[in-house]
Amino acid sequence: MMQTAIDNGIPGIDADCGGVCACGTCHVIVDETWIDAVGVANDDEIMMLDLTPEKAKTSRLSCQIKTTAAMDGMIVRLPEFQM
Ligand code: FES
Repeated sequence: MMQTAIDNGIPGIDADCGGVCACGTCHVIVDETWIDAVGVANDDEIMMLDLTPEKAKTSRLSCQIKTTAAMDGMIVRLPEFQM
């Protein structure tokens, strides 16, 4: 998902580490109705999310979400910190 955001010029997704789960600058907050589509974060992602400002119940690192057709129309918010 992170690469798709960058390729389409979405502001607020800096992805400073290039997608290796080491910076937290690709943090997104997934709309609760879509959380099943993205699955669950692994331990490394959870540790990195714990360091990000504005972590929410449905926070994910967009570099760790593999985009699928089932996510068409998915709604995510960016943390205020990244705007
Ligand atoms: S791009 Fe660095 S954690 Fe996702």
